[in-house]
Amino acid sequence: MRGLDDIETVGVVGAGTMGSGIAQVAAQAGYDVVMRDIEQEFVDKGFDTIEDSLARFVKKDELTEGEADEVVDAIEGTTSLDALADCDLVVEAASENMEVKQSIFQDLDETVPEDVVLATNTSTLSITTIASATEREDLIVGLHFMNPVPVMKGVELVVGEKTDQAVVDLAHDFAEGLGKETWESDDKPGFVTNRILMPWINEGIRAFDEGVASKDDIDKGMTLGTNVPMGPLTLADHIGLDICLDASETLHDELGDRYKPAYLLKRKVDAGDLGKKTGRGFYEY
Ligand code: CAA
Repeated sequence: MRGLDDIETVGVVGAGTMGSGIAQVAAQAGYDVVMRDIEQEFVDKGFDTIEDSLARFVKKDELTEGEADEVVDAIEGTTSLDALADCDLVVEAASENMEVKQSIFQDLDETVPEDVVLATNTSTLSITTIASATEREDLIVGLHFMNPVPVMKGVELVVGEKTDQAVVDLAHDFAEGLGKETWESDDKPGFVTNRILMPWINEGIRAFDEGVASKDDIDKGMTLGTNVPMGPLTLADHIGLDICLDASETLHDELGDRYKPAYLLKRKVDAGDLGKKTGRGFYEY
């Protein structure tokens, strides 16, 4: 297995919100990065997200313009899976769908050298089931970053049924090298964060839908009342309502009715109002 000292190039599958964020923090930590998505337009959008984020650091004098340019230059954008063949660690951050993830891991297993650890950024799906699509189940681990990746300190490490302890240690050391702190979760639905966060968000949506208070007052009550940075409706818009619904449905399927997604969450997703990323969710952006 390739250890931390062997890692020069990090592969990231997916250039969406999470994938581009992971590519950015890996490049900021000094790695060469290959960021792959299926369409060039998704890759280009990933670079736009990275440039916006880096501009914030430049504005605050935490990076110079030259350093920000170096970060962008360290990231190779591609639509080719074969471009990941020379990576020493790969982090998958594609959509939250088991069939999609298993198919990606099967392809990665054939393309990437057999001693390379393959991590997934899944937020709720089983690491063990994803790993079963490969011949290297011991080298598969959950590396669950939080959104927005460049600012959130925490990374959840998820240990699958067959994940080797050395792989968990590597994932921990890699995340620390990116300036993050980690905690470990067993491979159970939603792990630590989403198991607890999604019911909170769904209860906020239900409280709004059932007329307990206005959406602003629900968010105000939770931010001022419990000192969290965002109330449940603002946070749902920030994460993306489609992501919240996928996560809630996985929890509901695995853990039963206490995790049933709020009706209004489904209605918003059906209407295409996914939160910040579409300009409208519970709020307008
Ligand atoms: N890149 C770089 N910097 C960023 C950034 C980005 N993408 N987004 C925000 N920032 C910086 C801003 O520049 C700003 O910096 P200063 O305070 O130094 O000026 C700081 O972060 C705060 O940003 P804003 O003033 O724009 O807005 P804010 O005060 O509302 O903070 C926030 C934004 C950091 C996102 C904060 O609201 C927050 O922490 N919210 C909670 C986020 C959260 O809970 N995320 C986890 C979601 S769960 C998840 O991700 C897991 C899952 O599977 C669903």
